[in-house]
Amino acid sequence: MHYYAFLAELHRRLAPRAYLEIGVRLGGSLAQARCRAVGIDPAFSITAELDGDVALFRTTSDEYFARPDPLAATNGTPFDLTFIDGLHLFEFALRDFMHAERHSSPRGVIVFDDMLPRSIDEAARERHTDGWTGDVYGMVEVLARFRPDLVVVPVGTRPTGLLLVTALDPTDTTLTDSFDAILAEFRRVDPQPVPPHLLDRLTVMPPQRLLDSGVLEVIAGAERAGTDTQRAIAESVRQDLGAGFAPAAVSGR
Ligand SMILES: C[S@@+](CC[C@H](N)C(=O)[O-])C[C@H]1O[C@@H](n2cnc3c(N)ncnc32)[C@H](O)[C@@H]1O
Repeated sequence: MHYYAFLAELHRRLAPRAYLEIGVRLGGSLAQARCRAVGIDPAFSITAELDGDVALFRTTSDEYFARPDPLAATNGTPFDLTFIDGLHLFEFALRDFMHAERHSSPRGVIVFDDMLPRSIDEAARERHTDGWTGDVYGMVEVLARFRPDLVVVPVGTRPTGLLLVTALDPTDTTLTDSFDAILAEFRRVDPQPVPPHLLDRLTVMPPQRLLDSGVLEVIAGAERAGTDTQRAIAESVRQDLGAGFAPAAVSGR
């Protein structure tokens, strides 16, 4: 399944109230949105037909999130769905995630592009291939180590995979507090030590299996007064997709 088709299903089934996209280029992924959408890219050149209600910002994501109110464009509505596909260097993807989670709703879903490089060359920080994922794959290890409370699911879409992250906690500051230590350990020089299980897609969720599960409906309806949204989402992932994708606290790992 191509990642546009998977994103289109996420929009349909999650029915986000507001959507954030970092890295827009021609608008192909942004065109899947059907709700209020914020697109950020210093060099977009839209050719796709956009159907949603879109606010475009010709700037970098770091500059955008330095603004006094990054939610001004949605009248204060936090993002229920975010697609991170901007600069494909580890430290940029990490900052994009930190900013996106802070401005997400408790039922929010954050999706990274390019998490499953097909070769060591494609994952290089110094781009020298046509297709390029860069070293953003490092986020899989970082989230597992520093945010074991999150649901983190690598999804085997074409061409270079996605990472779906949910059970978010917009108040959590662990990544911000550990930012320098994370960079010191995970920003590595080329050639990149991409783990074989990512290169070979051994621990990856087939996209159709995720779509066939009931998890997206649970996420869409999880934010109810008096319930623990993070736990409800994590529990449904454990039941439907397996303990390996759920946080240790609910999977008993
Ligand atoms: C791979 S393209 C995005 C493709 C698009 N999401 C799609 O799937 O159709 C990456 C885009 O990220 C943009 N970009 C580069 N640095 C960025 C930054 N610091 N903040 C936001 N976007 C950035 C580039 O200008 C480029 O258009």
